[in-house]
Order: sequence, then C-alpha cells, then structure tokens
Amino acid sequence: MNGLRKRRFDVLVIGAGGGGLRAALQLGRVEASVAVVSKVFPTRSHTVAAQGGINAALANALPDDWHWHMYDTVKGSDYLGDQDAIEYMCRAASQLVIELEHAGVPFSRQEDGRIYQRPFGGQSQNFGGEQAARTCAAADRTGHAILHTLYQQNIRARTHFFDEYFAIDLLSDEDGNFLGAVALEIATGEPIVIEAKCTLLATGGAAQIFRTNTNARINTGDGMAMVLRAGIPLEDMEFFQFHPTGIAGKGMLITEGARGEGGYLVNSEGERFMERYAPNARDLASRDVVSRAIATEVREGRGCGPQKDHVLLRLDHLGEEVVAKRLPGIRELARTFLHIDPAFTPIPVFPTAHYTMGGIPTNRDGQVVVPFSHGPEEPVPGLYAAGECACVSVHGANRLGGNSLLDIVVFGRAAANHIAEHLKRNRYHLPLDERSVERALARLSRWERRGEGESVAGLRRELQQTMETYCGVFRSEEVLAEGVERVLALQQRLQDAVLSDHSKVFNTARIEALELENMMEVAVATVCSALARKESRGAHSRIDHPERDDEQWLKHSLFFREGRRLDYKPVRTKPLTVESFPPKPRVY
Ligand code: FUM
Repeated sequence: MNGLRKRRFDVLVIGAGGGGLRAALQLGRVEASVAVVSKVFPTRSHTVAAQGGINAALANALPDDWHWHMYDTVKGSDYLGDQDAIEYMCRAASQLVIELEHAGVPFSRQEDGRIYQRPFGGQSQNFGGEQAARTCAAADRTGHAILHTLYQQNIRARTHFFDEYFAIDLLSDEDGNFLGAVALEIATGEPIVIEAKCTLLATGGAAQIFRTNTNARINTGDGMAMVLRAGIPLEDMEFFQFHPTGIAGKGMLITEGARGEGGYLVNSEGERFMERYAPNARDLASRDVVSRAIATEVREGRGCGPQKDHVLLRLDHLGEEVVAKRLPGIRELARTFLHIDPAFTPIPVFPTAHYTMGGIPTNRDGQVVVPFSHGPEEPVPGLYAAGECACVSVHGANRLGGNSLLDIVVFGRAAANHIAEHLKRNRYHLPLDERSVERALARLSRWERRGEGESVAGLRRELQQTMETYCGVFRSEEVLAEGVERVLALQQRLQDAVLSDHSKVFNTARIEALELENMMEVAVATVCSALARKESRGAHSRIDHPERDDEQWLKHSLFFREGRRLDYKPVRTKPLTVESFPPKPRVY
C-alpha cells in the first residue's frame, strides 16, 4: 500500500443515484462522515432517467390504501417478492414521498394543489378491483426532479463526493469485515484506497448487458460483479424486466405514464390487442404481460412498419395540451430520435431491457445476507446494498412501474438507519487485509498490457447481441444452453484481450474494459440462473415450461461465481403485521 493515496471515512457509499444519495443524506443527519464515490457526476446517475413517477397510496386522485399497494406489488411479483419487505416499503411510501416534497421535489399538482397522481400498470383499488392512480409524478421527469433535490440536500449536508471515480473492488480484513474499496480517479488514472467502517453498494442495474435497453451506458452491474468476486452470490438474476414501450430498434424509454394518461397500443390491423391479453387492465396490465403481448403480436405477423417488427403507441387522441403538460419529456425524445410529434403521430415501440429485478441479496435493513455453508441466512459484516443493485426482494419476478423510485428512497433510508447503529458499535477503523488491496490493484494492472488483440468495444457489442438473442422475452432450454456457451466463450475472449497500442484515451479505455468484465460476470449469472429455472414466472417466460410451478419453484435462486453453482432459498411469505397473500393465478 506504500505510495498509494488513502482516505478514511465512517461510511463509503458507492453510487450516487437516488439510493446512494438518500442513504448519504440520512447518515449526514447523524453526523457520520460519508464519502460517495460515483463514476459520473452525481446528477448524471441513472435515476435521472426515471420518467413516470413514484408509487405511494396518498389517495389524492382516487381512493387508495398502502395495503392495496402491497397486494398489487405481491401479485405483480408473481408471488416471488418477500412480503415482509413489501409491507415495509408500501407502508413507508406516503411518508417518504411527502418528505421528498418538503425537500424540494417539484411534483406536478392537481387542481386542488395536492401532488398529481397517475394510474400505472398493475395498480388496483380494493385488492384487485378498479384501476388505482398511485404514481406521484413530476410531469414525466420524476427521477430527474428527485435526483437533483437529493443532490442539493447532500451538498447542504456536506457529504464528501468523489465525482468521476470508478470503484474497482471491495476491501476487507482477514475476518471478512467489509471496509471500503479501491477506486480509480478517472481523470488521472490514480488509484485511491478509501477506508470505511462499512460500505453501502448503490450502483444501480445492469441492462447494458442487452443490446436494446433503456439504461444509461454506465449501468454495467459494477456492484453486483464486485459482490460476486467477493464470493457472495447474486439472487434471482433470471428475472430481467423488459419494458413494453422502448422506442423500436433504439430502446429509449417511453414512459408507462403515457398509457397511464390514456395512451394505448395497436397492431398493424389497428386493433387494440391488449384487450385479448388482459381484458380488465388492458394497456395497464403489468409489464411482463404487456411485453409478452407485444412480442407475440410481432411473432404472429401483426407487427407494424416495413419489417413488421414493432407495434404503435397512440397518444394522438389525448390532445396536444395533455401531451405538452404531462408528457413533455417523451415528446422531446420522440422529436429528437424519431422526428415525430407524438401528439399527432403514433410512436413505434417494442420491449426493451429495463430493470434488474435480481441482485445482491439483502434484508430490509439493507444488510447483505448470505447463507453461510447452507446454514441460516446471516449478514455479511460491514456490507450493505440498496436500490436496483440489491434484491431485498420487493419486486420478485416482475416489478411494478413506479416501485423503483420508491425502492431506492425506502431502502436507502433503511440501510442508513442500520448503518448508524453499526457505527455506534464499531467506533474504530479495522486494519485492512493488504491482500484485498493487492487483488483490487491487480484488476487494474491487468489492463496495462498493450498490443494487438480483440477490441473491448467489439466484445461488448457481441455480449449485448448474445444476451438479446439467447436470453430475451421468450426463453427455452435449447436457446438458453446455447446462450450460456456463447457468454462463457466471450468471457474467455475478454480475458485474452489487451488494450490497443493506439489507444489515446487510456483511462477511458481501461474503464470500459473493467466495466465489460463486470458485465460479463452479470451476464453469466443471468443466463445460468435462467437456464436453471424450469418454470414461467413474471418476466422469466419459458416456452418449454409455460406454467408457474409453485410446488417446485416458489423459491429464490442464488448464483455463486465459483463453479457457477446455483442454490435456492425460501421466499419470505410472512408479512410484518398483516395476513399473507397466498399465490393465486395471476390475471389482469
Ligand atoms: O415507464 C416508466 O416511467 C418507468 C418507470 C419505472 O420503471 O418505474
């Protein structure tokens, strides 16, 4: 470690999206010294791209109740969500949204001045009755509004930011306590050791492993890969959400809020086909249902356009005023990327990779938990995770729209509250195991080799295409088995790759290589977990096992990097204070 730059804090937060910033803010309130490492300037974190809103049963627009929200979330998860965590989240939602409002989030307003709420998919009143309107929105830029507010509040709280630093790997002591990370300053290429009494991962999702996706280029699963390399498994990685309405062929998100405002989907025959797939909820069925319906329409030849490869989202009946007021962001997107105005012209859409339901296994205090040697679950000392990189699991096999912004603020805060207690019991920094520093630095030096070889960018493109082809909306044994072989071969080719001699932007190239290593880890976990689960549940749709099989498969998967081993653990079906929602056929 001699000669290395070092800094010490009470807590290291890796990731400056909504989860990391909400946690840092809470920790600032107990006067902990907090460092936030972010590979981009914090307000460029991917939370900024969340459009439609955040769920809370405020009942501003229609009657509502947190318990109805809980029911919808359990049903939306196809009964794989852990009901203790879901109850905790849905109960906390209203308070946290009001708190965001007071912190400065400029929510849209109803006529009566209260926060504007729109209907979103999978929402109901009274346990499966009429459509609810539970999604609190700041036009269609809700994530942008929340992220900027949380950042400003953190500046006020004097959170220490390491902007544009890339976290390479976690650090620990010889007893397995997690104590910070090695990061790389992107501008200079200089590594830094950041020591802490505990570490919170809030690194977001990994949809960049797919070719067509809604995610920022930064969403490469860095935290998930760090955890795998530390010997900790990832949970439920087979469950990847495909958002029904990405711009066809390009992937950018067109918010579900567009359908919440009254937009609807049509096929090449002009038919509102969702009526056949979800007679009650129609275009506002849950995302897995709508994505499969669109993919089926296209497969059966009812797609639109010269290639018959997409369907159309119609908003032209809503009136220009509604589109301008409620959906200005997607209007701008459609103008920029398609040169059309959705107030007058339908948008071509197709499902696009959007959200990682699986991730780092945690309890509802944000502690990373693993079954040690097949025993009962235990917390990993000093390690926490929150937000999309974590699997708590409130989303189970399919997340409801509007629950991701909620997840990050609820569990960012919960993790911070637990960390505050941890700090009371752990007042001093523990000495690092030097070998953990050396291992992290070895990842860096591996990319100092130069020469002629395969390009990292080319391998990234191949990985994304492979995942799209072999691990998409519809899956089968044969296709997934081929996918596993192909992804492993790509991972091997990456190990043999070197950076080009001609690379002028050295650190950028090195970071892309490190990111691709992380993407490979996550892709292997995803496709292996998908091959192993022989049923259809939520977003995991196996054409060779079309039914949900609660007897065999009502359980969470755990993927271990070593030996690519899979294990399973039970779903926590017992809520905190109310009755369980037992599995039922899931119809919308
Ligand atoms: O459609 C959307 O606005 C996305 C929201 C979400 O993923 O929660």
